[in-house]
Amino acid sequence: MLKLGVNIDHVATLREARYRGSEHGEPDPVEAARVCEAAGAHGITAHLREDRRHIQDRDVWRLRETIRTRLNLEMANVPEIVEIALRLKPEIVCLVPERRREVTTEGGLDVAGHLAALTETRQCLNDAGIEVSLFIAPDAAQVEASARTGSQFIELHTGAFAEAFADATRRAQELARLIAAANQAHALGLHVNAGHGLNYLNLAALNAVPHLVELNIGHSIISRAVFTGLERAVKDMLALMASYPG
Ligand code: PXP
Repeated sequence: MLKLGVNIDHVATLREARYRGSEHGEPDPVEAARVCEAAGAHGITAHLREDRRHIQDRDVWRLRETIRTRLNLEMANVPEIVEIALRLKPEIVCLVPERRREVTTEGGLDVAGHLAALTETRQCLNDAGIEVSLFIAPDAAQVEASARTGSQFIELHTGAFAEAFADATRRAQELARLIAAANQAHALGLHVNAGHGLNYLNLAALNAVPHLVELNIGHSIISRAVFTGLERAVKDMLALMASYPG
């Protein structure tokens, strides 16, 4: 069954828009995580950015105490945040690019260009019992490099697919890239997640992409929650995901 990790960063974004610098404020991303789990989400994703633009340090510690499923900490490969992750012990870390030089042309992590540093961090995190995922574009060189780091997972960047969705030709091209990358990763022993820009309309097309374990979805779920409530928004997404083959 295809799993859903709900990215709650956008809940924190809304809070920070009014309460930046305060120790409290609404809406609370930890309460959002609780509602998502109660609605059936298989995991909660939060990105602790170096600039603390949305999720704050206190959020990740409260999430760690509260979450009953799996905490997926998105983060840059920088010493300050790696040190926090080693103490926090999320079930999984997804390494993502935050700085321009770490980014491939398609927006994923440039694993091929930072192989040694990513392998070292992967080893540290694994030694602490934390699984590691790398957020990459569906690009053969990046998939190959990801396997060489010894990571357990990749997360395929679906942003280009989401942007191309309205154009049938480009959508088919982007889907073909995702399919090829998923097959290649699976053959190399990597588990395959996907995320970014997925929504209630474009999700069904991903049924063509094999070997998917988990989708990480944030913006569309939090946006729909404004009108339906978060519980309904999560349940609607899970209902759509139930059609994923296998
Ligand atoms: N996966 C990763 C690695 C991300 O950085 C993001 C965006 O924060 C997402 C998934 C979720 O993307 P969206 O909010 O567009 O659903």
